[in-house]
Amino acid sequence: MNIIIAKNDQEASEKAFELVKTGLQNGKIKTLGLATGSTPLKLYAQMREANLDVADVTTVNLDEYIGLEADNPQSYNYYMEQELFKSMNFKASYLPNGVAEDLEAECERYESILADHPVDLQILGLGTNGHIGFNEPGTPFAAKTHVVELTQSTIEANKRFFEREEDVPTLAVSMGIASIMAAKEIVLLAFGEAKADAVQQMVEGPVTEDCPASVLQNHPNVTIVLDEAAASKLK
Ligand code: GLP
Repeated sequence: MNIIIAKNDQEASEKAFELVKTGLQNGKIKTLGLATGSTPLKLYAQMREANLDVADVTTVNLDEYIGLEADNPQSYNYYMEQELFKSMNFKASYLPNGVAEDLEAECERYESILADHPVDLQILGLGTNGHIGFNEPGTPFAAKTHVVELTQSTIEANKRFFEREEDVPTLAVSMGIASIMAAKEIVLLAFGEAKADAVQQMVEGPVTEDCPASVLQNHPNVTIVLDEAAASKLK
């Protein structure tokens, strides 16, 4: 694991942006894997403003809540539209459909999209419990795109985006750990003290399904970009 520790989230996002920009400009990134949450917002702001030519680039997202239409402001489809897609001319962009009637078929459809568009660089955030995508602790490392039941801690962490805790969906469709590990390169961002324990487990703990992100220790090309607070528990 290549670890970069920046002073704050702005500087960390600039480092991540350099990696993304270089890959887009030299043509290495044909498929870009995207994440949601608050962590990549500053990275996405730089991407929007950089005037990058992405007409040959396809994007695939990690996950989507079940039960939210794409035009629901809390959906990840909506988030992506606002943060990137309406400002950048990607060739095509894919997210899971959280209102698919047949969710099993939706998971299969998404896996076939991933098979057609192998991810060159995947952006990841990190849950406070060590989740990546929506792969909660205990998810088998072999999992592909699947329906996930969110843990109480994830619902708690994400309720800030909703009016009421009852509004937070309890289910999601998420790329699995195996789907994520198939990316050629991974850049994980984590900021703030609340992520420090998960960062420590991910980097220095055992590789275990109890901390999904620890699987990244087995990936040949991972860069972890942290601010000082998120790195504060690393030995
Ligand atoms: C959610 C998303 C993850 C994200 C994580 C951290 O559960 N499914 O992809 O990485 O939360 O969110 P945040 O960046 O807001 O801390």
